[in-house]
Amino acid sequence: MAFVVAIDGPAGSGKGTLAKLISEKYGLVNVDTGAMYRCLTLYLVRKGITVEEVDKVEAELPNINIRIERRDGEQYFYLNDEDVSKEIRTTKVNENVAKFAQLKCVRDMVTPMQREMGKTQDVIMEGRDITTVVFPNADVKIYLDCSEEERANRRYKQNLEKGIECTYEEVLKSIQERNRLETEREIAPLTKAEDAIVIDSTNLSIPEVAEAAYKIIDAKKEELK
Ligand code: DC
Repeated sequence: MAFVVAIDGPAGSGKGTLAKLISEKYGLVNVDTGAMYRCLTLYLVRKGITVEEVDKVEAELPNINIRIERRDGEQYFYLNDEDVSKEIRTTKVNENVAKFAQLKCVRDMVTPMQREMGKTQDVIMEGRDITTVVFPNADVKIYLDCSEEERANRRYKQNLEKGIECTYEEVLKSIQERNRLETEREIAPLTKAEDAIVIDSTNLSIPEVAEAAYKIIDAKKEELK
């Protein structure tokens, strides 16, 4: 296995931002695993398939090809050769992804793809089950936590900046619902791995979170020397 940094945590805790900074600083390939579940979800939603139709989901999986391209430090996601990087962030995907990500057949397809990526290249991978299921033996395991209220606050501000109309209460409710689905699901629920180091970003700035993570990574690199 190559050098692997694994980060898990709830939606809106800042994993994406942190992963990008770590990827740039240490030259690691950045993998946004949530986006992979989003690509699958987009494909299934377009086909009009619901999460209850597990047989149909299973039958479609071999037709789905997900590819990540990297340009100028950004990740671009291709679904069967179509760039869907923008579309996977839309409401129709947001509302369905946590449901499809609960399915065993879906996870059985995505998890091996992620493990494969960490075999031959040094990676920073973030998601919900990276420290627990995908890479339980990762060199560095971080659990990035944040209060629900602060996560809702951040998402609410982002929405306003993007011109998306919403109330704080609506955003909080949707974050709570997603959290419930992700932590209570049977397979690979979001949970802190016993040996993961927790960074709580509730009251920290982005540079402060990054500094805390760099310390953990530097210490590990020193140990491996
Ligand atoms: O990080 P995100 O919001 O883009 O993730 C989208 C969904 O994918 C989220 O609802 C949970 C799921 N997910 C998962 O089950 N396992 C992962 N490793 C990453 C994401």
